[in-house]
Amino acid sequence: MQDEIEGISTGSGGARREPSGLRRAVDRLKAARDAVVLAHYYVAPEVQELADHVGDSFYLAKLAKTLPQRTIVLAGVAFMGESAKLLNPEKTVLLPEPAADCPMAHMVQRRTIDEARAAWGDDLAVVCYVNSTMEAKSWSDVCVTSSNAVKICSELPQRHILFIPDRNLGRYVAEQLPGKHVILNRGFCPRHQAISLDELIDLKEAHPDALVLAHPECTEEVLAEADYIGSTSGIIEYAAASEAREFIIVTVRGVIYELRRRCAGQGKRFHFTRTVPTCINMDAITVGKLLRCLETGSGEVEIGLDGDARDRAARALDRMLELAAR
Ligand code: 13P
Ligand code: SF4
Repeated sequence: MQDEIEGISTGSGGARREPSGLRRAVDRLKAARDAVVLAHYYVAPEVQELADHVGDSFYLAKLAKTLPQRTIVLAGVAFMGESAKLLNPEKTVLLPEPAADCPMAHMVQRRTIDEARAAWGDDLAVVCYVNSTMEAKSWSDVCVTSSNAVKICSELPQRHILFIPDRNLGRYVAEQLPGKHVILNRGFCPRHQAISLDELIDLKEAHPDALVLAHPECTEEVLAEADYIGSTSGIIEYAAASEAREFIIVTVRGVIYELRRRCAGQGKRFHFTRTVPTCINMDAITVGKLLRCLETGSGEVEIGLDGDARDRAARALDRMLELAAR
């Protein structure tokens, strides 16, 4: 049984220069382009290492609004770059691998929103997980991430909430807010959906003292086994602050790099299920692609929406930032 990741596969198609040379090259390219590099916790460790800021989806979206640089390079999947561009239309946003998409982002249809609005009228809020296309955001009243979904939904005046696209995060929100009527869509993250309950139970039996820390994109059965449920940064913060020594991490393996960094010297151990959850989309972002994008300016994010739709999508993201700050 593979119960502990000793080293993460790098997934790098990148340069083989020694690290300080590589860092100097990145710094020079960033300065030439007036660029800043943001990375999500799921990307390969060597990409995280070269980033100026690493975080969860909410942190990256919030931070992107505050940065002085003209160019934002987002080492993450497409929806992350699109959110940064919607929030910063005057800036250039580059994706090292523009083909790295999130399949869940596409798992919602316009008809679902139209039918819910027809049924519930003004007492319905359409709440859109940021793991979504720009179109889906433009059909919605507010965006959320896994770190603020419960808080934001609790503050909405409407009683009925159509939660798109993720049924698992939507169901988790519904459980936390019994006063709301949450209507679920059928989308899901294929990586979290595939995490096996049987493998998790085997792991719990092998490590009875370990706390289970899970991402809310997991299935209901898997979340029922969790001691803590939260976003990638929530999981990392929880493990870093906990007195416990052993943790079963129920999300994509990329978080191990920051978990190890934050818990260095604490003697903590982290276990993953036998079939280690990976995100092929996040793994497609390599050092080589980061360098190419900084060198050539490739992977520029374009807003493929008309003016009204673009404004509505940006408003849904801005409203998330406002409500999360309350
Ligand atoms: P976080 O918002 O928790 O970083 O999660 C993003 C994601 O894609 C989870 O699969
Ligand atoms: Fe999308 Fe799942 Fe990958 Fe997150 S882990 S980016 S939800 S496919």
